Amino acid sequence: MPILEVRNIKKKFENTQVLKGISFDMEEGETISIIGSSGSGKTTLLRCLNFLETADEGTITVRGQKLFDGQHPVTNEKEKRKMRLHFGLVFQQFNLFPQYTALENVTLAPLLAAEGSGKSDIIENGKRLLDQMGLSDRMYNYPHQLSGGQQQRVAIARALALKPDILCFDEPTSALDPELTGEVLKVIKQLADKKTTMIIVTHEMAFARDVADKAIFMDDGVVLEQGPAFELINNPEQERTKQFLSGLIK
Ligand SMILES: Nc1ncnc2c1ncn2[C@@H]1O[C@H](COP(=O)(O)OP(=O)(O)OP(=O)(O)O)[C@@H](O)[C@H]1O
Ligand SMILES: [Mg+2]
Repeated sequence: MPILEVRNIKKKFENTQVLKGISFDMEEGETISIIGSSGSGKTTLLRCLNFLETADEGTITVRGQKLFDGQHPVTNEKEKRKMRLHFGLVFQQFNLFPQYTALENVTLAPLLAAEGSGKSDIIENGKRLLDQMGLSDRMYNYPHQLSGGQQQRVAIARALALKPDILCFDEPTSALDPELTGEVLKVIKQLADKKTTMIIVTHEMAFARDVADKAIFMDDGVVLEQGPAFELINNPEQERTKQFLSGLIK
């Protein structure tokens, strides 16, 4: 059974049909990269998957459980929050809580969800995740004391702390200098090597090709082409994909 089945997702903003029927499957342990021009709908798709936007049509199924059905969308905020927990989301801007340390940022949501039980396990897990992100000496620093790359790695640890089925990234390095980009891509690659299930929207074509199992090329609200990442990016079939990739990949 696929871990995620996305079927015919459509989304309109005012008069613009931004998603025109997106469908794809993903297997547990797989990394998918989503590429495509600015405005093609990549962020909107991730937001629909994470219930930050409500799609107009289509279905989203995780581990066989239909979380979203455009014909009967859930409107109850509490229900939405519960469904959102299946997905983790790491944004371009790290959005850490400035008043909390790195460790507090990572443990805050799980501690609230656990309502007091298992506190020491949650803190141990938070420390382990920060260590995995190469931040064992930064746990008690506040966001303003961290570089952009370090803040983004805290944001990744924070998303992992809620144990999502699928971790989504929306251009996780586009706010970073090239130097700091490398350190963030390195930890994402380590997660891919450990078979973390991930969807990564990125403009880093070499990374999308080398780290992902599968790639999806979105164009004007549709999936124009999808397939094994290496093949799609090195040898696309569609003229439009070729045009997009030309000059972006060495
Ligand atoms: N809340 C909104 N209201 C109206 N239009 C929106 C809204 N969010 C997105 N759009 C429009 O939807 C289209 C797709 O936007 P989206 O952000 O999903 O593209 P993208 O592929 O992520 O682009 P980029 O690569 O620049 O991040 C754009 O034309 C955008 O202006
Ligand atoms: Mg975007």
